[in-house]
Amino acid sequence: MNGGMKTWPYPLWIAHRGAGKLAPENTLAAFRVGAGFGYRAFECDVKLSADGVPFLLHDDTLERTTPARGVAGDRAWAELSRLDAGGWHSPLHAGEPLPSLNAIAAYCLRNDFALNIEIKPTPGQEERTGEVVAREAARLWAGQAVPPLLSSFRPESLRGARGSAAELPRALLLDTLWDGWFEAAQGLGCVAVVTNHRLMDAPLIGRLHGAGLRALVYTVNDATEAQRLLSLGIDGIITDAVDKLGPTA
Ligand code: G3P
Ligand code: MG
Repeated sequence: MNGGMKTWPYPLWIAHRGAGKLAPENTLAAFRVGAGFGYRAFECDVKLSADGVPFLLHDDTLERTTPARGVAGDRAWAELSRLDAGGWHSPLHAGEPLPSLNAIAAYCLRNDFALNIEIKPTPGQEERTGEVVAREAARLWAGQAVPPLLSSFRPESLRGARGSAAELPRALLLDTLWDGWFEAAQGLGCVAVVTNHRLMDAPLIGRLHGAGLRALVYTVNDATEAQRLLSLGIDGIITDAVDKLGPTA
């Protein structure tokens, strides 16, 4: 039996990469759009610059979402912070910067928004990324009632996170139910498991809840699927469809 979290402090609805596809993913502009639809919890992807600064980016490389090319984690933050991470999405977002975790923390803390930090390491930097992101998150959220939820597909990253900030809640992300996932989640002291929504069903939720683990899903953009998961008793839904599903208070 995992200790888990006695009370779950996170909103049910979580905006994916800030606001999904309505604004450039993983930028402050996306968070502002999500907030405009009433969202109070956000997921984002965090990796390290070459000089160890945690910042938001989904891909290993820069070409899809910036004018630059190559491995993002090979560049220093001074260089990354000058890139245009918005113009690829739409002209009105041109010039939007890649945010540091520091900047996103300031935004979330000032607004009482909850954050799910997905640790998305550059390949080969799995454990170190978990260590540094968790250490920085612990510093930024020190003394706050609702800590960020640290999640990763990579057990090594969660191990790194536990090593530097064991007190921060962790979640294992699953795109498949690989052999040993349940034992890994428990062994890493996770409080939750976040699966591809297609994997989540009543037996799986029952197994997670029976072990004291919360059950969350990504990325649900369809109302019928959201209803299926809600009727099963899901604890969290990560969505791109912030304009169609969930909040708007
Ligand atoms: O954290 C859940 C979800 O973001 C995982 O998928 O590829 O969008 O990071 P991805
Ligand atoms: Mg993600």
